[in-house]
Amino acid sequence: MEYRKLGRTGLKVSELCLGTMTFRWTSTEAQAHQVLNRAWEAGINFIDTADIYSFWAEGNDGGVAEQIIGDWLKTKPREQVVLATKVRGRMWEGPNGEGLSRQHILAAAEASLRRLQTDYIDLYQVHYPDWDTPLEETLRALDDLVTSGKVRYLGASNYRAWLLMKSLWVSDQHNLARFDSIQPHYNLLNRDEAEPDLAAVCTDQGLGLIPYSPLAGGFLTGKYTRESVPEDARGYGNDRMARYMNEVGFGVVEALREMGEERGKSVLQMALGWLLSLPWVTAPIIGANSVEQLEGALGAVGLRLQEHDLARLDEITGVKRDLGMYN
Ligand SMILES: NC(=O)c1ccc[n+]([C@@H]2O[C@H](COP(=O)([O-])OP(=O)(O)OC[C@H]3O[C@@H](n4cnc5c(N)ncnc54)[C@H](OP(=O)(O)O)[C@@H]3O)[C@@H](O)[C@H]2O)c1
Repeated sequence: MEYRKLGRTGLKVSELCLGTMTFRWTSTEAQAHQVLNRAWEAGINFIDTADIYSFWAEGNDGGVAEQIIGDWLKTKPREQVVLATKVRGRMWEGPNGEGLSRQHILAAAEASLRRLQTDYIDLYQVHYPDWDTPLEETLRALDDLVTSGKVRYLGASNYRAWLLMKSLWVSDQHNLARFDSIQPHYNLLNRDEAEPDLAAVCTDQGLGLIPYSPLAGGFLTGKYTRESVPEDARGYGNDRMARYMNEVGFGVVEALREMGEERGKSVLQMALGWLLSLPWVTAPIIGANSVEQLEGALGAVGLRLQEHDLARLDEITGVKRDLGMYN
């Protein structure tokens, strides 16, 4: 397992980050503990969650995933785990039950700390923009959490390049702690959210880039075919995968299969290997319902694609790896 610096910070995170959105949604609590244990044993020190995971699953409030991680964390050396969570989504009733106001952030951080059963969060991320709150208010509240020692580093998610750049500017202007990472939806079939602009901001400003849904929710495992959607998969019985079920989607899967055959790697491993080969990517955030699924992702550790494979994937997806920088 390679450990990489999160942007320009001195914090070192494993090249795979374990996502936890599936905990008590599409996996049981027992499976969640097994996945956490196996990930830890394999050298993954970086865990991503959010306060809202997974309120959408029947019978769940938000906070379930944090609670499970908190229980697990008690069995591990806290200082060796890099724990990332998020704030922004609705967590309680009323007009301040969501958002990035000072009021919501400070209350939500306390609630996350309680569920995580720890006294600090390593990486506290804004989950998505709040257009009702001035950036300065959000950044001041986050800066206070850093100053108080409850949070170590700050990150953003689902911010476009211009908003991320503006946030860096506001932090700089007021001498506040800044975002050191960005978490975009980024995989071979969803490149334009990160490339070229977000990747260029990260490269130029020294931010870590941690892609979520690196397998396009499971499509890039190759188990979805032109004929069928697996019944036990997230995409079954809904239109979640419809946007990938086209010539480009199946073309990418086919190319990954062919490239992987030469190297004894699966479609899933090649899809993760692609992200691991991009110089602006720090660590893809993987999702696994079971240890068996996790083993698939662990097979991508250390995998780096060759230039001719990267070029072939550029051609199929119609995107060139060109950040438009320094030329
Ligand atoms: N910031 C945000 O807004 C945001 C949004 C989404 C996610 N995230 C983060 O990113 C993490 C990962 O997101 P994601 O779950 O969408 O990632 P993903 O890697 O694109 O998809 C993971 C899914 O692929 C399938 N899969 C994984 N390994 C497999 C294997 N070996 N064989 C067959 N199927 C396999 C599983 O779903 P099935 O078994 O159902 O097919 C699994 O849940 C989340 O846990 C969360 O931490 C953040």
